[in-house]
This record gives sequence, C-alpha cells and structure tokens, in this order.
Amino acid sequence: MKIKFAVFLMTASIVIAPYWQYAFAEEKRNAQRDWSKAEKLFKTKCRLCHTLDRPKNMKKSYEEWRSTVTRMRSYAPVISNEQADLIIDYLSHHYGKKQENKGQK
Ligand code: HEC
Repeated sequence: MKIKFAVFLMTASIVIAPYWQYAFAEEKRNAQRDWSKAEKLFKTKCRLCHTLDRPKNMKKSYEEWRSTVTRMRSYAPVISNEQADLIIDYLSHHYGKKQENKGQK
C-alpha cells in the first residue's frame, strides 16, 4: 500500500513538474518584464476621462480587465489594439487577482 502511494506520488510529480516549471518561468518573466512602456500608456490613456483611482482601486482578472478596457475603448477611439494589449497585461499584473493570472503572457 505504502509503495503504491509512493509510486503514485512519483508519477504525479513527474507529470506535474513541467507545468510547475512553465508556471514559474511565466511568473519570473512577468516579474522581470519592463513595464515602463505599458505604465506610461496606462497613465496617459486611462486618465483622459477619469482619474487613475478608478482602475487603481480595483482588482480584476485578465478577462475582466480585457472587458473593462474594451468598454472604455467603445467610448472613444483613443487606444489602439496594441496599446490595449499592453495596458491589459499591465493591469492584470499590477491590479490583478493573483490566482487567475497564471499562464498568460
Ligand atoms: C473615453 C473616455 C474613457 C477612457 C479613455 C477610459 N475610460 Fe474608464 N470609464 C469611462 C466612463 C464613462 C466610465 C463610467 C461608466 C462605466 O463604468 O462604463 C468609466 C469607468 C471606469 C472604471 C470603473 C468601472 C468598472 O467597470 O470597473 C474603470 C475601472 C475604468 N473606467 C478603467 C479605465 C481604464 C483602465 C482605462 C484605460 C485603458 C480607461 N478607463 C479609459 C470613460 C473612459
């Protein structure tokens, strides 16, 4: 019984290891990422209609930030697709819900 459990644990860790490596590499990349361009965009674009306190007081998942930013873009065409992607990445990294952030770039 004990051996079976040990074998199970070993198999499980072999299966899970690549995922962990992937998840941690992703987190490390995000931690070391240069956010200056995204931050500048966020601070200029998202202050056109209201203060930055609106987004800064919130914590949203990647998908939630994407839908908020998409709604903001529907009010005025001031943010390009590429800029929106950067801002969404920035927001979900800095004002994100921790556990839902994994696995995205
Ligand atoms: C064209 C004007 C405009 C721009 C640019 C704009 N917003 Fe907004 N924002 C609004 C308006 C109007 C509201 C209130 C109505 C609403 O919530 O949709 C709002 C509300 C919000 C809210 C509170 C509501 C919610 O759903 O959480 C957040 C957060 C927010 N904006 C974030 C942002 C971010 C982030 C950006 C930059 C990508 C941005 N806004 C750019 C007009 C704008």
